[in-house]
Amino acid sequence: MTGANRGIGREVCRQLAALGHTVLLTARSAEAATAAAAELGPEVHPVRLDVTSEDDAVRVAGEVAGRFGRLDVLVNNAAITYDTWQRASTADLDVVRQAAETNLYGPWRLTQALLPLLRESAHPRIVNVSSEAASLTNMGGGTPAYTSSKVALNALTRMLAAELRTDRILVNAVCPGWVATDMGGPGGRPVPEGAASVVWAATLPDGGPTGGFFRDGRPLPW
Ligand SMILES: NC(=O)c1ccc[n+]([C@@H]2O[C@H](COP(=O)([O-])OP(=O)(O)OC[C@H]3O[C@@H](n4cnc5c(N)ncnc54)[C@H](OP(=O)(O)O)[C@@H]3O)[C@@H](O)[C@H]2O)c1
Repeated sequence: MTGANRGIGREVCRQLAALGHTVLLTARSAEAATAAAAELGPEVHPVRLDVTSEDDAVRVAGEVAGRFGRLDVLVNNAAITYDTWQRASTADLDVVRQAAETNLYGPWRLTQALLPLLRESAHPRIVNVSSEAASLTNMGGGTPAYTSSKVALNALTRMLAAELRTDRILVNAVCPGWVATDMGGPGGRPVPEGAASVVWAATLPDGGPTGGFFRDGRPLPW
């Protein structure tokens, strides 16, 4: 679970641990990971991971291989730059690139690094936490860095699902809805409700959907 020291990521860790799973709570600050994991219980293990770092991805893959020998679920949750202050027509492309580094290349890099461990699992799943903002069907203007990175994350989800079908890895994108976190701000729905959407995709049974886009377990339009 990436970006799990606060917000939806932290709550997904709490819910997965409550279901009896061993959870690797990762955060880019080692202290933040340790503090969050300590609050959630003994089955939640803190791991330092900045998703923009290739070195971190390689190190974490080595750690998981050494400690567990496999990975059942990768949840790509960490994201930045809900850029309500920008418009596509005038956007600062450095900001757009930075957002993609975390929101798109982060999940991509981690998937590549952790695939050998996912292949060791009997029930492997990848969950990419996306946003309905990325739905092309209803897309208007605004939040260009965030939206374009999530559109590309959805495309990555489709490609990985197709390529990894023969490995029995279920790969789905999930929108948690508008959630009252630091990113979502006040007024969104409670964090446990948003997190439940992610937990649903992380715990899909064998033969469950792959290559889909969901909120609350129901399909969303691409
Ligand atoms: N909240 C909403 O309304 C909403 C709606 C649709 C989709 N989503 C999606 O849901 C997911 C979680 O959002 P949230 O609302 O929980 O956001 P949040 O409260 O802003 O938390 C974001 C998390 O990502 C981490 N992070 C950022 N950059 C990172 C990096 N380079 N490496 C590792 N971790 C990094 C942050 O860590 P630091 O503490 O170190 O910054 C933090 O733990 C995101 O993918 C978001 O796009 C949210």
